[in-house]
Amino acid sequence: MSNAPAEEIPAEEIDLTEANEVIDKYLTLPGNLMPVLQGIQDAYGYVPKPTIDLVAERLNVYPSQIYGVLTFYAQFHLKPRGRYIIRVCVGTACHVQGAERITETFFGRLGIGHAETTADLRYTFEKVACLGACGMAPLAMVNDDTFGKMTVQKVDEIIETYNARPMK
Ligand code: FES
Repeated sequence: MSNAPAEEIPAEEIDLTEANEVIDKYLTLPGNLMPVLQGIQDAYGYVPKPTIDLVAERLNVYPSQIYGVLTFYAQFHLKPRGRYIIRVCVGTACHVQGAERITETFFGRLGIGHAETTADLRYTFEKVACLGACGMAPLAMVNDDTFGKMTVQKVDEIIETYNARPMK
């Protein structure tokens, strides 16, 4: 059972083989920075720091330029992410219907807070703004699955369901 946030993976433990393969694939193409970073994120689930240094060296760009791209586009992540992304809406309608209690229950069950990932990399938790289904408030999502009229009991059912799902 997950009960602590994930630690940063030490740089020396990052295997750069896949990052090198991604770079090899795009090396001679113009405008290759975005596809290279996207390919690295697809391979690792995020963009580890050692891969940024590698990209800078092999594509001959400044690391600051790479960080600029990574922080500008919300699709990129600089920390490991969970296999299952739990999002709880804290928009007005969901707030009024008890989103805080749902959020706190997830925190308690998973041992992580907002924008954190469990040590086993199964879950990342995020509070989000209105998801556009206020009639189902309070609302939660796990990846693309939506759960309306959330209760504490449903939190437990969700965790039980996704604990039984594969990690790949
Ligand atoms: S406020 Fe939660 S879905 Fe709109």
